[in-house]
Amino acid sequence: MVRIPISVEPRPYDAIIESGLLARAGMCLRQILPERRRCFVITVAPLRRKWARQLMASLAAGGWEARLVEMPDGERYKVLSTIEKLSEKLSESGADRESVIVAFGGGVVGDVSGLLASLFMRGMDLVQVPTTVLAQVDASIGGKTGVNLKAGKNLVGTFHQPRAVLIDPEVLSTLPAREFRSGLYEALKCGVIGKPDLFRRMEERSDRILRRDAAELEWLIAESVRLKAEVVAADEREGGLRRILNFGHTIGHALETATRYRSLLHGEAVAWGMIAATRIAARLGRIDGHSASRITEAVLAFGRLPAIAVSSREIIRRLQADKKTKNGIVHFVLPTEIGRVQVVSDVPQEVVLGAVEELRRLSQNRKVQA
Ligand SMILES: NC(=O)c1ccc[n+]([C@@H]2O[C@H](COP(=O)([O-])OP(=O)(O)OC[C@H]3O[C@@H](n4cnc5c(N)ncnc54)[C@H](O)[C@@H]3O)[C@@H](O)[C@H]2O)c1
Ligand SMILES: [Zn+2]
Repeated sequence: MVRIPISVEPRPYDAIIESGLLARAGMCLRQILPERRRCFVITVAPLRRKWARQLMASLAAGGWEARLVEMPDGERYKVLSTIEKLSEKLSESGADRESVIVAFGGGVVGDVSGLLASLFMRGMDLVQVPTTVLAQVDASIGGKTGVNLKAGKNLVGTFHQPRAVLIDPEVLSTLPAREFRSGLYEALKCGVIGKPDLFRRMEERSDRILRRDAAELEWLIAESVRLKAEVVAADEREGGLRRILNFGHTIGHALETATRYRSLLHGEAVAWGMIAATRIAARLGRIDGHSASRITEAVLAFGRLPAIAVSSREIIRRLQADKKTKNGIVHFVLPTEIGRVQVVSDVPQEVVLGAVEELRRLSQNRKVQA
């Protein structure tokens, strides 16, 4: 078992990582929240079918009076009306401020449940039990909650830190292959920005990781969570340092919006974004050629990425419209070596355009040398 403290004010909490943890979740939460009795497990159909019985049995064994509350599956239900419907269900079931919300699912369930927990009765306790790679290495840590508006993703949200994050890598065994790989790119991202050992191991053992070897996954998730914990503790509300977590996300977001969130999963867009940022860094002479190609090769080792079917001009347009763009200045997180990045705001437009064009070529003709 690995226990990683997330040191945020006023109340730190732990992320606990262990294969088979689901079966002990009830006891584990009993120790963390000894006075509480009732909990509401927010989840979606695929998890209800595959894993809920195990979680509910474990909660009962830990003395919890647990109730399952289902929401519809998918990013399009990450909207305010879902919060309202879930709130109605909670109040019909007699939930009060002493009840605990358990978010049991991927990042969508985590973000929705987090917002629900921060609003219902002006705030109740939340526990994250993430079930996708993306949620285990990233979304469940750090307290960001949110829903989407028509105008964009995550535009309404709060900061609401959970009381605990329980991570069982075994639940990843039922995750669709593409979702699984997509989450791995966020772990690789953690390697590039601050964990060279994580990067190296992912580089060397991509086969074992893709086979979902339990020990590999446990280690990889723990290292990623450590990185996120360090960054979040230093910068809980996204002042400065937390920006480094956006490595690969500047162009990644532009790709997601330019393709209307249809052809690329988030992690896949980030994967392309990491390759682009690395090329920009190389072009600006901020990283040596050998390290740059190691990053690109490592990304490409996790399988074929969907091609980018939009024009470079459209990608650049989206880049400039990004909500994180201040006064038209686009910030890039660029790698300077493996395990180190810097935030750069004065990248010449032609360098960005060059990287985007290379990306399109690479995506359409994978025989091109990485
Ligand atoms: N709060 C944060 O800091 C943060 C960070 C990154 C991403 N996010 C958010 O996370 C969301 C994406 O999360 P995601 O990639 O986990 O997607 P998701 O929650 O939509 O899950 C992907 C799919 O996998 C299914 N699934 C989940 N776990 C499964 C399992 N163990 N077995 C079988 N199927 C399973 C889900 O039902 C869903 O269909 C986005 O909305 C994004 O904005 C939040
Ligand atoms: Zn991301």
